[in-house]
Amino acid sequence: MERSSSILALFLCLLTIIPSDHAIESPQYTVALLASDFEIRLYRNSTWMSAPLQGTSFEESTKEGFHRLYQFIHGANLDSSEINMTSPIVTSIAQSSQGSFSSYWVNFYLPAKFQGAPPEPYLELNLKLDERKARCVAVRKFSGFARDDNIDEEMEALVASLDSYMSGGIVKDDTNVFAIAQYNASYHLSGRLNEVWLKVGFPGC
Ligand SMILES: *[C@@H]1O[C@H](CO)[C@@H](O)[C@H](O)[C@H]1NC(C)=O
Ligand SMILES: *[C@@H]1O[C@H](CO)[C@@H](O)[C@H](O)[C@H]1NC(C)=O
Ligand SMILES: *[C@@H]1O[C@H](CO)[C@@H](O)[C@H](O)[C@H]1NC(C)=O
Repeated sequence: MERSSSILALFLCLLTIIPSDHAIESPQYTVALLASDFEIRLYRNSTWMSAPLQGTSFEESTKEGFHRLYQFIHGANLDSSEINMTSPIVTSIAQSSQGSFSSYWVNFYLPAKFQGAPPEPYLELNLKLDERKARCVAVRKFSGFARDDNIDEEMEALVASLDSYMSGGIVKDDTNVFAIAQYNASYHLSGRLNEVWLKVGFPGC
């Protein structure tokens, strides 16, 4: 745990020391709907590397999953490729119906260079390639740190916003899988950006 949290901290530091003329790549989208407290984005199809795990803590699961991805992007793959950082790191969460145990997937967006032909991760890292179709995602932004004790209320607030937005034909995904996207270095105490994501149906998606 100690080791993986320092690795996460290191990664999040690296994110911010990269010169701004080498902008970090992010998944591409267009905004399909902009409301006062949420938006709907149409993401293009994209390829991600995903670390699945079971756990009781969003924070610990994100650190553990990122530790596995960190090794993959630093050469623990069959081509020994070094892969550039991207943002955000997206943790998908499927809460079990009974109790606090959840399934998590910590997801890394592959840079354009590797979208078509990603290197194969070492088997022991237990990473899965996630080839996503284009999709609509409802997004609520929040600041501060994404933590076990605040993400539930952010998810609920997103659902409340969607429920109160009567027009426009938004259809919530019934799998109840939310995701938390984190963009910033852990040492940034202010100006932090996180997002709650929920897949939705929407005209045009
Ligand atoms: C990786 O990042 C470095 C530094 O930001 C940049 O110079 C390089 O062009 C990037 N490589 C690719 C393949 O995008
Ligand atoms: C995304 O679409 C492009 C163009 O249709 C295709 O070449 C590419 O393989 C697709 N990628 C994924 C991850 O489905
Ligand atoms: C956090 O990340 C967002 C999105 O990349 C960026 O706009 C913002 O400036 C970052 N905040 C800090 C403190 O670096």
